[in-house]
Amino acid sequence: MIVGIGKNREIGKGNDLLWHISEDLKNFKKITSGKPIIMGRKTFDSIGRPLPKRRNIIISRDPSLNIEGCEVFTDPDAVLNELKQAGVEEAVVIGGSFIYEYYLPKVDRIYLTEVEFEGDADVFFPKFDRSEFSVSDEAYFEETENSPAWKFSVLNRL
Ligand SMILES: NC(=O)c1ccc[n+]([C@@H]2O[C@H](COP(=O)([O-])OP(=O)(O)OC[C@H]3O[C@@H](n4cnc5c(N)ncnc54)[C@H](OP(=O)(O)O)[C@@H]3O)[C@@H](O)[C@H]2O)c1
Repeated sequence: MIVGIGKNREIGKGNDLLWHISEDLKNFKKITSGKPIIMGRKTFDSIGRPLPKRRNIIISRDPSLNIEGCEVFTDPDAVLNELKQAGVEEAVVIGGSFIYEYYLPKVDRIYLTEVEFEGDADVFFPKFDRSEFSVSDEAYFEETENSPAWKFSVLNRL
């Protein structure tokens, strides 16, 4: 799972992100490239196109949804079965809130960006117990003219 959260676990507003941190976007690209990405239909809408060099999997309750360059599933568990059968080593859940909530108990790793942001939001990351994870790869980034301060870490399920 990969997510960027504010101080109160804010993740989005008006079907958009709450900040623009280009270094974090580059990191997202690096982590997800070559791996299947799993997202909710609204997150796909907010991105607006399939992301290149990745298998784009969209979860929707609409069985007739057909999006070029993407695979649509109505059952989030069927996605995991399909990826296991295909021998995929790592797939990455990229949001949003409904999808994070569904997969959180199942994920082995969270690529976590924590942003010094506190403000209006309409979607949030679920509460989770950090003691279930060990932390690695911590990196801190200072505030710049263009972005708030943020911290990156990888949480591995114990
Ligand atoms: N900060 C971050 O890292 C981050 C990452 C990703 C997204 N976001 C933000 O999060 C927001 C979008 O997230 P969201 O929570 O509103 O929506 P979402 O989770 O991306 O998508 C919700 C949609 O997923 C489908 N869905 C959900 N549960 C399902 C289930 N059990 N079975 C089948 N389909 C299911 C439904 O699609 P249908 O309506 O088509 O049936 C539902 O409307 C945006 O603001 C975006 O910018 C932030």
